Amino acid sequence: EKSGYDHFMLKEIMEQPTSLSDSMRGRLLPEDPRVVLGGLHTVWDQLVDADRIIIAACGTSWHSALVGEYLIESFARIPVEVEYASEFRYRNPILRDGDVVVVISQSGETADTLAAVREARKKGVLCLGICNVVGSTIARETDAGVYLHAGPEIGVASTKAFTAQVTVLAMIALKLAENRTLSTGEMAHNLHALASIPDKVDEVLDMNDEIREMASVYRYASNFLYLGRGYNFPVALEGALKLKEISYIHAEGYPAAEMKHGPIALIDRFMPVVFIAMKDSTYDKVVSNIEEVVARDGSVIAITDEGNGELDKLCEYVLRIPKTEEFLSPLLTVVPLQLLSYHIAVMRGCHVDQPRNLAKSVTVE
Ligand code: F6R
Repeated sequence: EKSGYDHFMLKEIMEQPTSLSDSMRGRLLPEDPRVVLGGLHTVWDQLVDADRIIIAACGTSWHSALVGEYLIESFARIPVEVEYASEFRYRNPILRDGDVVVVISQSGETADTLAAVREARKKGVLCLGICNVVGSTIARETDAGVYLHAGPEIGVASTKAFTAQVTVLAMIALKLAENRTLSTGEMAHNLHALASIPDKVDEVLDMNDEIREMASVYRYASNFLYLGRGYNFPVALEGALKLKEISYIHAEGYPAAEMKHGPIALIDRFMPVVFIAMKDSTYDKVVSNIEEVVARDGSVIAITDEGNGELDKLCEYVLRIPKTEEFLSPLLTVVPLQLLSYHIAVMRGCHVDQPRNLAKSVTVE
């Protein structure tokens, strides 16, 4: 069942080139260039005309929702708010005509997310679901939606569901951009870029041995900081969550620029800091953050673009991953973080697939 892997988590990480191709199959048509999302067909006009989109989710799905906010706001220019489902449902949220609620849930059974669906429907607002498990409660109770088609996720730590969620959100954002913010040429370019992601994920997975070696150096750390900006801020949060849930190492994710507003006080030679430092619009700022950490003896692991040698002098480890469009980078940058937490957890003797105190679907509120 684990196809020769020691754990479902590793199998699911390694499966991502396939699960991502499955998520895009029949939906992504770069030659046309067009995105087809059959599950949203009946509600599409309402979604295109939305005044505001509210995305509610928990845990890793909430992190993909944050990526979704950046994607939809930049491509569709529709205001997006991201909510923890557990907060949204108890706040008597203000929902108006023209609002659309989107919930994201791998299992489709998370109690708080389901409660958010019921709250939206009670208030008469269109509610869409992005779920993996076909026929799950959330999939059934939402008005319409998109399945991930990522295949069953058995490991408690969510991995391939996250990348499939981001892929589905990217397809929704690009479809919303049709006749709006993208020319036909730009649309074709972006769809081709998305279509090439599975091969690039494959290249990142080839770094597994290198990442395992890195893990052996950091396995005894008791704290970790993860920093990223823009599209990679949610990836920093996700990297930290992966590490804490399976290796029980305390980890925090922050937008890199927030470091100077507090977390910088934590930095000393015992504090490894993982930076996502892709050569994008915020690269120079992130490099100054790296310099600040190094000046305080922090040990830096950086994830950057293939061919970028600029960080070698500053950082303990530099992982170089294939270049892609900035908006697609979370699909690549998250993969080394998944592998890093996996290997550290294995080396610490943790039960990777069944971490203590956690369940695959949280059906209590
Ligand atoms: C993290 C993880 C959890 C889930 C969260 C939501 O690895 O697995 O944080 O992401 O419980 O679950 P779903 O997506 O099933 O609603």
